[in-house]
Amino acid sequence: MKSALITGVTGQDGSYLAELLLSKDYKVIGLKRRTSTDSLDRLSSCVNHPNFSIVESEISDAGSVYDAVSKYKPDEIYNLAAQSHVGSSFEQPDFTFQVNALGPLHFLEAIRRFSPYTRFYQASTSEMFGKNYTEISDVYDGRTVEIKYQNEDTPFQPQSPYSIAKLAAHNLVRVYREAYDLFGCCGILFNHESERRGENFVTRKITKWIGEFSVWIDRHNISYTDLVLDKDEVYIAGRTSTEQGFQFPKLRLGNLDARRDWGHAKDYVEAMYLIMQQEHPEDYVISTGVTHSIRELLNIAFKHIDIYDWEKYIVIDPKFYRPAEVEYLLGIPDKAKEKLGWEPQVTFEELIKTMVEYDIDESQKLE
Ligand code: GDD
Repeated sequence: MKSALITGVTGQDGSYLAELLLSKDYKVIGLKRRTSTDSLDRLSSCVNHPNFSIVESEISDAGSVYDAVSKYKPDEIYNLAAQSHVGSSFEQPDFTFQVNALGPLHFLEAIRRFSPYTRFYQASTSEMFGKNYTEISDVYDGRTVEIKYQNEDTPFQPQSPYSIAKLAAHNLVRVYREAYDLFGCCGILFNHESERRGENFVTRKITKWIGEFSVWIDRHNISYTDLVLDKDEVYIAGRTSTEQGFQFPKLRLGNLDARRDWGHAKDYVEAMYLIMQQEHPEDYVISTGVTHSIRELLNIAFKHIDIYDWEKYIVIDPKFYRPAEVEYLLGIPDKAKEKLGWEPQVTFEELIKTMVEYDIDESQKLE
């Protein structure tokens, strides 16, 4: 039986990966940091599995990592733990560095010292490309078109403390691979979402709001034409904006023009697993090859509740703008397709539909 240690096991990716590896008869050790708030909600299908265990550890603490690696000497380690919110990294740059850069270094050192045959996966990110993309011109139907994308050859130009720390870790994996012959590899994953996504990432923030709003509309048995649209909220005509329960806050967002390449997290953990099963350790771009702006995301998401003029329900709030932004991401996963035989299965439209439906269901349960 193979064994795998997963950091960040309580998160979206960690929980999907734990399920995948258990289904492949792995013994899975999930590392979880000691907090009073972290829940095991996403792991409901794993917690009672005989091959699953949870261990408390803190990846920014070298001793804690050394203990875990020397004790379990797993076949594979997947380092998915991170301070993963790009916006927050501007407010907590130091903490972000400790977790996102020193954390992986602690694992590389622990593997080198105590368990040199352990394979290591590092969750690298498309955020490392930052401002940069590769641009080519091609001719379609007699017209010259500019195509902008990122792949494994695109140079990195990170735009946040988050991505600079991630790039440090990415380079550390390369150096440990070359210097010490460790099996270390990185998945350069573009945005990946699901109904397990944290609520402060833009996709889930939008689908959660839609779920709650739609249930609020149903509860009052009204239609959109019964609403008065105020500056920061909507309220029911005939009521006042201060009457308890009759108003609903608008959705507050930042930059709607950024473009992202969004896939389904469940597809992406398959790629992580495949990357670790190769003969040689290498880095791979994992993405869908399609890019959408936040505006397009809003079009698709609001369409599910028959709202086509979503602008009326949104407030642009400078608080959600970042000091530096990544404007354009579109990953070409050709290497993963060729070498891993990996392809994303879920389209962007299907992903958003699932998330909206899930959040409507969840909001109904709370009624
Ligand atoms: N979170 C958030 N909240 N983002 C907003 C908002 C808002 O209210 N309004 C606009 N955005 C824009 C952000 O400025 C960004 O351009 C885009 O929506 C996506 O933001 P996030 O969903 O927070 O994701 P991210 O792209 O910054 O980072 C995610 O993907 C990376 C992979 O590319 C995270 O999962 C990272 O951990 C991951 O590495």
